[in-house]
Amino acid sequence: MNSSLFSPLASWISSHLVGSPRTGTPAPYVRKPFRLDQPVKSARLTVTALGFYEVELNGQRVGDEILAPGWTDYSKRVMARTHDVTSLLHAGENVFGAILGDGWYCGFLAWRNRQVYGDRPKFLAELVVTLANGSTVTVSTDASWKTTTGPICESDMLMGETYDARLELGAWSQAGYDDRSWLPVVVEAMDPAVEIAERLGPPVRRIGEITAKSMSLRLDWNQARRIFDMGQNFAGRVRIAVTAPRGTLVRLRFSEILEPNGDPYIENLRGARATDYYVCKGEGQEIWEPRFTFHGFRYVEVHGLNDSHKIEVTGVVLHSDTKPTGTFRCSNDLLNQLQHNIVWGQKSNFLEVPTDCPQRDERLGWTGDAQVFVRTAAFNMNVQEFFRKWVRDIRDAQYASGAVPSVIPENKFTGEDDGGPAWSDATIICPWTIYLCYGDKQILADHYESMQRYFDFLGREKCKGLIRCHHEVDKWGGYGDWLALDGSGKVDGGTPKDLIGTAFYAYDAGLMEKIATVLGHKADAAKYAQRRAEIAEVFQRRYLTPDGLIASGTQTAAVLALHFGLVANAEQRKLLAQELARDVEKRGFHLATGFVGTPYLLEVLEENGYLDTAYKLLEQETFPSWLFPVKNGATTIWERWDGWTPEKGPQDKGMNSYNHYAYGAVGAWMYRSVAGLELDPAQPGYQHIIFRPRPGGTITWAEASLETAHGLVSIRWEKSESALKVAVTVPAGTSATLLPPAGYGSAQELKPGRHELTLKA
Ligand code: BGC
Repeated sequence: MNSSLFSPLASWISSHLVGSPRTGTPAPYVRKPFRLDQPVKSARLTVTALGFYEVELNGQRVGDEILAPGWTDYSKRVMARTHDVTSLLHAGENVFGAILGDGWYCGFLAWRNRQVYGDRPKFLAELVVTLANGSTVTVSTDASWKTTTGPICESDMLMGETYDARLELGAWSQAGYDDRSWLPVVVEAMDPAVEIAERLGPPVRRIGEITAKSMSLRLDWNQARRIFDMGQNFAGRVRIAVTAPRGTLVRLRFSEILEPNGDPYIENLRGARATDYYVCKGEGQEIWEPRFTFHGFRYVEVHGLNDSHKIEVTGVVLHSDTKPTGTFRCSNDLLNQLQHNIVWGQKSNFLEVPTDCPQRDERLGWTGDAQVFVRTAAFNMNVQEFFRKWVRDIRDAQYASGAVPSVIPENKFTGEDDGGPAWSDATIICPWTIYLCYGDKQILADHYESMQRYFDFLGREKCKGLIRCHHEVDKWGGYGDWLALDGSGKVDGGTPKDLIGTAFYAYDAGLMEKIATVLGHKADAAKYAQRRAEIAEVFQRRYLTPDGLIASGTQTAAVLALHFGLVANAEQRKLLAQELARDVEKRGFHLATGFVGTPYLLEVLEENGYLDTAYKLLEQETFPSWLFPVKNGATTIWERWDGWTPEKGPQDKGMNSYNHYAYGAVGAWMYRSVAGLELDPAQPGYQHIIFRPRPGGTITWAEASLETAHGLVSIRWEKSESALKVAVTVPAGTSATLLPPAGYGSAQELKPGRHELTLKA
């Protein structure tokens, strides 16, 4: 075994039950009674599983993690946890038990079948007890353990959980339990190449509860269905309190929206059955919450009960335990709801890895989505450790060639090694952003070699004459400007893939230069700077005209050229920005950009003197816009601008999530420009803070706050006819600069403390 966390005594164990690529098996229970002859001085438990585990010692659950041990590429690395369990043990008879689930390891994964990594859950644990007399007792998983199955008849993350309360095992993890009918476990060999390491990043926990807002009845010919509206789309599950006779089968189905007739709309879940079943034991009120599954939903349909039966439904919100850090509010309530939706998109998708969506048969760590959203995410919550873990996953996934796939953890979902422009570039963009937001130099140092190999791979295998995704060397070219409504009618938009590729290649080179500089690798920095200049020149030659037009003429093409500094001179910049602003106006200030262009659009408009245009886009309420879903009752960010329209209803059921965070990337602009809370790349992690409110549109006041490592940073501004009142908080040990909007005076240096300033127009 490749781990210093366990002694050689510990072996992987499993039950003898093996499902098939399509069918699951009941969840195995494993147990081991043991005796301690002395009072306990201390006790430490180290535990992991391939699949999920929940450990019980003497009838008490250990820890509060959900879906442990989390998701990594199990063919390379699995994470373990150590718990202090001193208080759970005593002299005399003790019992060590666990329940195992399929999880990412052997359950259904995305649109594939089951058993992607292995055929059944496996468990590895070791308990080291120090007794009062100083001697130690070690209890490890081995051939002496016993196993059986119980009430969890089936449990899968995509399909749901089936629980038959009539099959409950009683006090199975306590002393005195009769386990004579239990069978010996199977001892499993373990691939020595798999590293067992301490858990990285925050675990998934139950973060909150939601009470149903309303319930409607649907009457069928045979049975009533109750449809609960939780009032919020989220990732998690429900806890039910049900009173019904023994044998009553309760079916729970989950959906994000309703059909026009009030039924749950489940077509967009694709292959995810997202259905839980509970069989009552009939002993008064029964309380149940599934263990090893979660769903992405707002509505819960309960089937199987009649009028005399009772049920209460409580939503249980699950996500990686990233602490909230940021708040944003302003005078436009629709934008406040947008901010709410962005935060809930983040909650729903920061679950072990940054996923695209929590509901359909996908839920993958799409690199592109993570890359566009990371900056916004770092405002709303502390995501430093979450990304440290995921960046480690990127290294596990990287190919020997240096290629980085489109989803992390990788499992050959796309058949391509390379994830393509704006997707696999996450390998450089995400660590850099975490460095900026938290001053975390270590993430750059840890990942530097990997970033270099990735960058070299692009030059070597993906470029011809510095044009990345040149059709002669790259037939596929990536996902393009995914889901752009730019008039091309194509799911990957109308911006040429080699243009996107080359722009991101230049951007990567620029970031590599900065990263090398931060790490003190001067020669590398010079090399990357030169490469960036060469790519920019090639870009200009191939895609830009001297008069400031850009190939394809799409907004995203212009946005990338401007944002990545690929224009030749100030004149070309001015003309191209003018073209971009004109195109936005031509579309009546409606969005036409996809995943790639949208995140930078408002920033580019602002930087080039079109703040008004940026605000018109941000505050636009009609389709397509950020506020169109808000106006139509959205509680999270939709995957597509046209996810639902009054004319057409729901978009293509094959790809239409109502809980994707990517377009929520606009949140960063709301913090940075609307409220004006910005970092200084030269002193990252808010060591030096920049306050730069940029009032505009209908907004009369805005405020943002951020809990940083130095303390709380905040800004609030309010506009009157003749002045701008600004109040800021600068934490001890930092400094700040206030950059007033144009016409409100000059920059001011601020010391730690609270400042209230009136800036005259
Ligand atoms: C996912 C996206 C992802 C994309 C790749 C989709 O199925 O949901 O968010 O980035 O594929 O283009």
